Amino acid sequence: MFDSKKSVLQEVCFSFLNKTNKKLFIKRDDLIDEFVSGNKWRKLKYNIEHARQLGKKGILTFGGAYSNHLLATAAACHYYGLNSIGIVRGEELTIESNEMLQKCSDFGMELLFISRTEYANRNESSFVNYYKSEFPNFYLVPEGGANYYGIIGCQEIMLEAGFDFDRVFIAQGTTATSCGVLTSLKNGTRLSAVPVLKGFDTFGEMKKLLSYSGFEQEWVDELLHLVDIHTESHFGGYGKYDASLLELMQHFYQETAIPLDPVYTGKLIHALCEYCLATSEIAEKILIVHTGGIAGGLHVSRSEGYVFN
Ligand SMILES: Cc1ncc(COP(=O)(O)O)c(C=O)c1O
Repeated sequence: MFDSKKSVLQEVCFSFLNKTNKKLFIKRDDLIDEFVSGNKWRKLKYNIEHARQLGKKGILTFGGAYSNHLLATAAACHYYGLNSIGIVRGEELTIESNEMLQKCSDFGMELLFISRTEYANRNESSFVNYYKSEFPNFYLVPEGGANYYGIIGCQEIMLEAGFDFDRVFIAQGTTATSCGVLTSLKNGTRLSAVPVLKGFDTFGEMKKLLSYSGFEQEWVDELLHLVDIHTESHFGGYGKYDASLLELMQHFYQETAIPLDPVYTGKLIHALCEYCLATSEIAEKILIVHTGGIAGGLHVSRSEGYVFN
């Protein structure tokens, strides 16, 4: 139903990088679907398949007030005839609190609002077991689709893009997307991870998710040597940005017609530019993965005046 063939591989010419020795390509996962966009479909694809194999009637998952993952889950379940439940961080919120939650509800997602304190336990087994026993007919997917099935879905990104890149840039939240890409790399390609959270422990989080998902520890330790972390593009933390980031995104859009969002992909391009300028003399073929994040323009309306079209 969602077709990753729509995710074309495009060469990018961005004048900012003209004087560098880099060749840039972008994997347009943002084109997969308006709402199940970017890495969302990658992370949901095998979770949905698994839920259906188990004969579950729907998916229960978790997210914040502006969660791309909640919206994508609501939309994907709607299209696949599954029910969906979203456990939302913030008991003060309602369906009317923002467009994202409204849209989730329009897709038929039942939203349950819980306190931030409760939500903080989302990865504890007691918390997970509570929801499993309350909703036995639902398959539980962790926040951000970060589990084994999410990772193997993301392994298909490189399979489609090919393996002849020197480096791949990925924005990081839960790390599921970068874990999928890392575990599918070949030929010594390096992974440039761009955490959007301040003080994020990329190695620790990737190690934790990969071992929890059943990947062999020794292999994981070996793979992590291929990871470079770009720690200086978080703009103060999750969801934070400034006028200079919006200007860079605007500039990128004007030259490439590729929209970015300020939460993930804008920061990705910022880290890419910083890296390319700092290593301009090194010839490299770089792949950027466009992980979406601009569902129906909903994020755009949050970014104060940044308009794509
Ligand atoms: C647009 C976008 N890009 C990147 C990410 C980060 O992906 P991950 O959580 O798999 O690290 C997310 C969060 O899922 C996202 O919404």
